[in-house]
Amino acid sequence: MLLHTIDDVRKIRKEWKNLKVGLVPTMGALHAGHLSLIKKAKEICDKVIVSVFVNPIQFGPSEDFDKYPRTLDKDYELCNENGVDIVFAPSPKEMYGDGQRLSNDTLTYVCPPFFYVNKLCGKTRTGHFDGVCTVVLKLFNIAQPDYAFFGQKDAQQAVIIRKMVKDLNVPVEIIQCPIVREESGLALSSRNKYLSEEGKKDALVLSKILKNIKACFEKGIDDITALKETAYSYLTDKHDLEYLEILDKDTLHEQEKADKNSIALIACRVENVRLIDNIYLGE
Ligand code: PAJ
Repeated sequence: MLLHTIDDVRKIRKEWKNLKVGLVPTMGALHAGHLSLIKKAKEICDKVIVSVFVNPIQFGPSEDFDKYPRTLDKDYELCNENGVDIVFAPSPKEMYGDGQRLSNDTLTYVCPPFFYVNKLCGKTRTGHFDGVCTVVLKLFNIAQPDYAFFGQKDAQQAVIIRKMVKDLNVPVEIIQCPIVREESGLALSSRNKYLSEEGKKDALVLSKILKNIKACFEKGIDDITALKETAYSYLTDKHDLEYLEILDKDTLHEQEKADKNSIALIACRVENVRLIDNIYLGE
């Protein structure tokens, strides 16, 4: 069922009073990564809602909001094939009325702690996680899910959402699902569509760097600077590295040495497309 209004979702949600409901928030252009979250939701829940909403308030003014791929017909078809009960695809107006900008003059929004947003993607994407948390909390309030599903692909996002849920006592259990990759190692992303064939090859460097860091860690190297330095031999003038960090995977705290709880995270531009990837060193 394809629904566009909050009222319609609420009506159906009420009928599901005694059922376990799962929510998979997405911005559409669904790929196998999204489908892995849907599959997990189907395993655990009686009913599954997928939201498809390109959320304007999580994009910066110079980011790709306008050109972000929008493929609702195809997304709806994929959801139907995968047993989704509701696809919720609201308009920006339905979600925000006229307050479609992240502005505390016009909108009540969620502001996650500085410690979590002042690093990694938050450093260059000012306001991004405020926009993410705000829309996710709204979706939680609209769908009232028992479980919500997020990918490790956006590891910082998942940590921040867990923190919001804890701090604001939101009655939902967050389930995190592993990164789905192409056979080549490239992490699936809706933004891979922006890459040329050559760009896709250059983009493999992200997963290669991470895999190599993990291999070095497994060989006994735990010095974070040394682990990070192993990346340089992979980078060429096709790669514009934004960050490469090794942090505690649950708290995003810096560590003295890498350990089994570490995550290595990378953001790098290829053909001016901003790509992110990460790997747990201990799993
Ligand atoms: P979007 O980029 O569409 O991603 C939706 C969910 O799919 C996120 O939880 C993301 O981590 C997960 N995902 C994306 N690629 C994946 C992959 N290769 N393997 C596994 N999971 C993957 O993230 C967002 O949308 C938005 O910020 C949102 C949370 C919907 C709020 O607007």
